[in-house]
Amino acid sequence: MFRFLRDHGIIERNVILMGVLTLITVAIGGLVQIVPLFTMETTIERVEGMRPYTPLELAGRDIYVREGCYTCHSQMVRPFRDEAERYGHFSLAAESMYDHPFQWGSKRTGPDLARVGGRYSDDWHAEHLRSPRALVPDSIMPPYAFLDRPLETADIAAKMRALRAVGVPYTDEMIANARADLLAQARPEADPAGYQSRYARARQAAFDGNPAVVTEMDAVVAYLQMLGTLVQFRDVTPEQLRQQ
Ligand code: HEC
Repeated sequence: MFRFLRDHGIIERNVILMGVLTLITVAIGGLVQIVPLFTMETTIERVEGMRPYTPLELAGRDIYVREGCYTCHSQMVRPFRDEAERYGHFSLAAESMYDHPFQWGSKRTGPDLARVGGRYSDDWHAEHLRSPRALVPDSIMPPYAFLDRPLETADIAAKMRALRAVGVPYTDEMIANARADLLAQARPEADPAGYQSRYARARQAAFDGNPAVVTEMDAVVAYLQMLGTLVQFRDVTPEQLRQQ
C-alpha cells in the first residue's frame, strides 16, 4: 500500500536524480507563471480615449520621475469604496499602458494623483509647486520653485523614439513634429490645429502663467492636468467593464 513511499526513497538517496526532478518541477512552475505574460497585449483591456502623452506632457512626466514625486504620491486608485469616493473611479490597467515605467507608486505621503487632472486650476498647480505651504499651510511637500527654468526640448523626439521601441504607438508624424507640438501646447497664441489632430483632448495653455518662456513648470502642470482625464468614465458602462 505504501509502495510509493519506498520508491520515493530511491529519489532521496540519489542526489543527481533528485536534482533533475527538482529542476523539472521548478521549470513547470516557472512556465505556468511566465507563459501567460506572452499574451499580455491581449489581457489589457482596450479603453476609448487612451492616447500616448503629448510631447509636453511627456516632458512633464520625465520631470515627475526625475524629482521623485512618486516617492510621496501614488497614481493608482484601488477598487475600494473609500478610495473611489475620495479620488474617483478605480484605475484601469489601460490607463497606464503607455507608462514606462508605470507610476503606481508604493507610498502615499501625499494624496493619489491618478485623477488630479482638472481638479484645480493651472495657477493653483504652479503656485502649489512653487510653494506648497502658501496654499496648504500644513503641507510637508517640498517647494519646487526652480521648475520655473526653461525646459530642455532638444531630446524630446529621441525620447519618443525610445518609447516607440517599447510599444508606445508614436507615429513618424508625431515624432517629426515633436518639438513644434511641445511648444505649441504651451503657447496659447500658437495654432493648435496641428498637435490637436495628433493628440485628442490636449489642452493648450500657458500652464505656468507665463506664455513667453516654455518652462519645466509648464511641462509638469500640463502633465498633472492630463492625469485621469483621458478615459471618459461617463461613457464606460458597467457591462463594458465586466466584459474586460
Ligand atoms: C515629501 C513628500 C512629497 C513629495 C516629494 C512631493 N509631494 Fe506632492 N504632496 C505631498 C503632500 C503631503 C501633499 C498634501 C498637502 C498639499 O496639498 O500640499 C501633496 C500634494 C500634492 C498635490 C495636490 C493633490 C491634491 O489632490 O490635493 C499635487 C498636485 C502634488 N502634490 C504634486 C507633486 C509633484 C508634481 C511632486 C514632484 C515635483 C510632488 N508632489 C512631490 C507630499 C509630497
